Amino acid sequence: MDGPFFSRRAVLLTPLVLAAGCEREPKGPKKARFVIGMSQCNLGEPWRVQMNADIAAAAKEHPGIEVVFKDAQNDTLKQRAHVEELVAAKVDVLFVSPKEAQPLTEPIGKAFDAGLPVLVLDRAVLGERYTTFIGADNKKIGRAAGEWTKKVLGGKGKVVELKGLMTSTPGQDRSAGFREALAGSEIEIAFEADMKWLEPEARKEMDSALARLPKIDLVYAHNDPGAHGAYLAARAAGREKEMKFVGIDALPHEGVSYVEQGILDATFQYPTGGREAVDTALRILKGESVPKTITLGSRRFTKDDVKKGGERIE
Ligand code: FRU
Repeated sequence: MDGPFFSRRAVLLTPLVLAAGCEREPKGPKKARFVIGMSQCNLGEPWRVQMNADIAAAAKEHPGIEVVFKDAQNDTLKQRAHVEELVAAKVDVLFVSPKEAQPLTEPIGKAFDAGLPVLVLDRAVLGERYTTFIGADNKKIGRAAGEWTKKVLGGKGKVVELKGLMTSTPGQDRSAGFREALAGSEIEIAFEADMKWLEPEARKEMDSALARLPKIDLVYAHNDPGAHGAYLAARAAGREKEMKFVGIDALPHEGVSYVEQGILDATFQYPTGGREAVDTALRILKGESVPKTITLGSRRFTKDDVKKGGERIE
C-alpha cells in the first residue's frame, strides 16, 4: 500500500474520506486523521486569540482534523523553532501567522520546498515559497483610512500615525496606503512612531506626541489596541476631545465596541481568515488545487453606521 508510487496526497485523502463518515470507517474510538500545525506569533492581542478561536471552531466541524497550536509569544526565534518543530512532527498542513516577514521566510520556504502545504496567514513573508497566502488587503485598508481622514478633517490638519511593527507587512502596507490617500492634501503627519502593534507602546508614544504637539486633529493607529492606547494617553492629558481616533481590526468586542462607546471614531475590519484557512487546508487534503492568494474583504465602522453593521470598503 505504501509503495514508492503511492502519492502523499492519496495517503492523505483516504483517511479523510473515512473520517467524513463513509461506511468503511473502522469501529472503535475516533482518532484524528489529519493534523494541522498552527504557528501563531503571539496571543497578546485579542485579534490573535480570535484567529485561533476561528481556526479551532472551523476545524471542530471536521472530526478528522486536529489542530496543534503553538504560541511564539512575540519572539521571532521561538516562532522559527516552532515552524521547524511542526515540520519535524510531520503535520499534514502547516499554518503560520508570522511575526516578521524576513526571518520567517526561510523556515517556511524550506517546509514548502520539502512538499508540505503551507498557508501563510495575515502577515506575509518574502517571495513565493508557500502554498497560499490568506489575508485582507492592508494597502487598501490604509487607503480607506486615509480617505476617511481627509473627509473628516476637510483636507487639512495634523495627524499622528502610530504604526504597527514595520518589519511586518501589514504595518508597511497600512502606512503606505494611508500616505497615498493623503498625498496632495494639506494633512501633515506631524508625529509618527512604531508602536509594534502593542497598546502600552502606543500609549507611551502618544505621550511623546502630546508633549510635542500643541494641537492634534486625528490619530491613525494601525490597530485598535494602538488607537485605544492613544486615547488613554490623550484622556490622561485631558485632551481626548481635541482629536479623532482611528484604528484597524474591528473585532465586535474590541474596536466595534469602542466605536459604540464613542472612544474611537472609526475602525476598519481586518478579518482573521481562520475559517478560510481551514477550508483551504481541507481542499488541499482532498487533492484540489487552491489559489496562491485569498484576499479577504473589509468594512469600515463609524458611529453613523455601526448599528447597521458598517460600510463595505470598495
Ligand atoms: C495582532 C495584530 C492585529 C493586526 C494584525 C496585523 O497581533 O497586531 O491587531 O491587525 O496583528 O498583522
